Amino acid sequence: MLNSVMYTLFVLFNILQSVFSTDLDPLGYIAYCPCMGRFGNQADHFLGALGFAKGLNRTLVLPAWVEYRYGEHRSIQIPFDTYFKVEPLKEYHKVITMEEFMKEVAPYEWPEDKRVSFCYMPRGDGSGCNAKEGNPFGPFWDTYSVNFVSSEFYGPLHYDFYQTDMAKQWKQKYPPEKWPVLAFTGCCQEMKLMNYMHSLLLTTAMNYLEHSSYKGTKLAI
Ligand SMILES: *[C@@H]1O[C@H](CO)[C@@H](O)[C@H](O)[C@H]1NC(C)=O
Repeated sequence: MLNSVMYTLFVLFNILQSVFSTDLDPLGYIAYCPCMGRFGNQADHFLGALGFAKGLNRTLVLPAWVEYRYGEHRSIQIPFDTYFKVEPLKEYHKVITMEEFMKEVAPYEWPEDKRVSFCYMPRGDGSGCNAKEGNPFGPFWDTYSVNFVSSEFYGPLHYDFYQTDMAKQWKQKYPPEKWPVLAFTGCCQEMKLMNYMHSLLLTTAMNYLEHSSYKGTKLAI
């Protein structure tokens, strides 16, 4: 009796798992490296990226938080959900953690020979985005064993959707069928965030802090 219940649960679990794990977003994904600044800047860029992803109605890939330890040459990547709960974010927009994305989505939508890095214009030495040049750029993508095969300059498009038909232009230039994943070297510094985005999300974000060693501490952004 117990065995058959266990077996049924096991089968159900597997069905559910296969349903959820093949749930790809036909409208595509946005990934980026929070490669600028410390937590405050990264939180700001995260909000920009969230607004950008919502504007294009693509799933936002939640990157790790980049931390720097004194005396170490390479940044340390802390999975997004170490500090924040992901479920409540999903009420606002489609999101997936980078870890889950690499496991469940990348093999289908972002195979190794299709990994293009997006930047506004050439960066660093040479003529490409050089998405992995320097710290934390290299360590960040290395965390997920990502290498890029080419660069794509998206300029003069930008992230400010509020005044223009910018979302339409992005969709025209990078339709999800052809570009399922837009992976940015950095993201959204240029975006003029609406005040409501800030207050709405940051207030809620503070409620999301769940990491026990952070309980009772103050969050300054
Ligand atoms: C965004 O995409 C989802 C499917 O991924 C769809 O269900 C939803 O209606 C879309 N939202 C808008 C505003 O188009």
